[in-house]
Amino acid sequence: MIRVLKDKHIVLGVTGSIAAFKAAGLASQLTQAGANVDVVMTREAAQFITPLTLESLTHRPVVTDVMALLANSEIGHVALGRGADLLLVAPATAHTIAKLALGLADDAVSATALDTRAPLVIAPAMETGMWEHAATRENVQKLAARGAVVVEPDVGHLASGASGQGRLAELDDIIDVVRATLGRGGDLAGRKIVVTAGGTQEPMDPVRVIANHSSGKMGFALAECARDRGARVTLIAGTTALRTPRGMEFMTAKQACEMQDAVLGSITDADALIMAAAVADFRPARAEEQKIKKGDTDTLTLQLVKNPDILRQVKAWREQTHHAMIVVGFAAETQDLVANAQAKLQAKQLDLIVANPVPQSFGSDKEQAILIERGGPMREMPPLTKEELAEEILGFIAKRLQTPLL
Ligand SMILES: Cc1cc2nc3c(=O)[nH]c(=O)nc-3n(C[C@H](O)[C@H](O)[C@H](O)COP(=O)(O)O)c2cc1C
Repeated sequence: MIRVLKDKHIVLGVTGSIAAFKAAGLASQLTQAGANVDVVMTREAAQFITPLTLESLTHRPVVTDVMALLANSEIGHVALGRGADLLLVAPATAHTIAKLALGLADDAVSATALDTRAPLVIAPAMETGMWEHAATRENVQKLAARGAVVVEPDVGHLASGASGQGRLAELDDIIDVVRATLGRGGDLAGRKIVVTAGGTQEPMDPVRVIANHSSGKMGFALAECARDRGARVTLIAGTTALRTPRGMEFMTAKQACEMQDAVLGSITDADALIMAAAVADFRPARAEEQKIKKGDTDTLTLQLVKNPDILRQVKAWREQTHHAMIVVGFAAETQDLVANAQAKLQAKQLDLIVANPVPQSFGSDKEQAILIERGGPMREMPPLTKEELAEEILGFIAKRLQTPLL
């Protein structure tokens, strides 16, 4: 389940593109995430993918023409469009984009689009020539100027065998944009939240690093949930194999010193900072210019120097500037979890610390966390998915931003 999609009514408009089969993936993922998905199709789309496939995935009837819209629901497309939280046209052909720009309404997709006042997200898919044509450019701009959100097609292999821009954006990217659009006006709307995620890598030489096991999953879940609640998000990612999420500012900072610069540069207008990255405490005193050779000795001694303590620097900056900002830290500990977390909460003047035992939580999909609030209770959470824990933390931030501690 994804909170922002749960019980949302999404109308998925499918049009006659070679990428229409990918609508099955979208319908399935949105349904699994908790949304109620009603599919409307153009007649051409039904040549590429059968309504039965989409009906089976959404467990709801699929509408393929305007007359069927009238027959299938109480007041036809009016009911479908007006009850929608969002209309997603994916894939959107050049032809349908042109119709939407003109305000035509002679098929199930365009009629629904003209009637609904729900936000419109379109994910175009077509050959590069069609995408780059002045007519399509103008139509897309017209729709964007009216408030439609356009998920630009990717550059890559096209059905014709050519390569260029026009490939339907990745489904996860389209779903990101749907989530961000549904989340506009959420309880973090108008707020800026900076999140750090992942591990750091401190170079020993050109080919070796000192790293850690952090996957970045927790920080990414926090950034995505914050975006879904309407926040403007800056995600500063260290090392991670995760996909770059859409709908937020994304920076990479692989070494602790880079992360320090990125954090201090991003928080000047932030309402909250969540430090979920596992930042190395130490780095090699010097990164050798040439690869360290094995040589004849049995041991190798590396001298390490302390990395900057980013949360301490943030604390100093807040004291200097009196900038009001909620700060959330993480304490990953192998022993004395609560005592160590409480000490960190005090020393760094955090508003909340998320204490979790390692190595259990590194890379795992469930978190066994204890939330300790400054001047508040300590809550031992049941095992939660990272998304569930992220919602808890953001719920705390939203509440604290509404009623700050004196
Ligand atoms: C095999 C095939 C693939 C097509 N793929 C696309 C496509 O990816 N994007 C597009 O804009 N048009 C594509 N077309 C053209 C559309 O199907 C055509 O413009 C149709 O009228 C679109 O109707 P609709 O927008 O009402 O669904 C394709 C046509 C064929 C025959």
